[in-house]
Amino acid sequence: MLNLLLGITALLATTSLAQAQTPIERGSYLVNGVLTCGNCHTPRGPGGVFAMDRQLSGGPQEWDRPTYKVRGANITPDKETGIRNWSEADIKRAITNGTRPNGTPLAPIMPYSFYKVFTAGERSRRRRRLCSISCASEQQGADASL
Ligand code: HEC
Repeated sequence: MLNLLLGITALLATTSLAQAQTPIERGSYLVNGVLTCGNCHTPRGPGGVFAMDRQLSGGPQEWDRPTYKVRGANITPDKETGIRNWSEADIKRAITNGTRPNGTPLAPIMPYSFYKVFTAGERSRRRRRLCSISCASEQQGADASL
């Protein structure tokens, strides 16, 4: 799970300001909280309750469309069916550009266009927040990677 959490955290890369959370804590917060990856990637147990012991190992829904038929993939570090060999950069690319490491596109049910906009928005909000503290970096031609 480490590469997934670090990939997500890198996507919303932290600033030079000290952060109260570690990258892993921040990654867990993003995956389990605001980005709701589990909605599509975590199986359900009896009564439709999330099976947290198998968190992110593949969702129950299947989307059957004229051009694709997909399920929320296993995004655990499982050797056979998970994303064990994906780098942080691979994960970032999948989440915001919708492509796998081998270049094949993900079905648009995987909401990468939303995550692209969301993460860009988060970065600019963070820049503005920083600017309210000190606008020096903004005036000196702001670091766009904030
Ligand atoms: C609305 C449902 C939905 C949500 C929410 C969602 N995904 Fe997905 N995701 C999918 C589907 C469906 C696929 C399979 C797409 C395909 O096979 O073309 C997928 C595929 C992936 C893949 C590619 C896995 C592989 O082996 O090809 C990764 C990585 C991934 N999702 C990560 C995430 C992360 C991280 C989040 C949260 C930030 C997330 N997804 C949120 C539906 C979703």
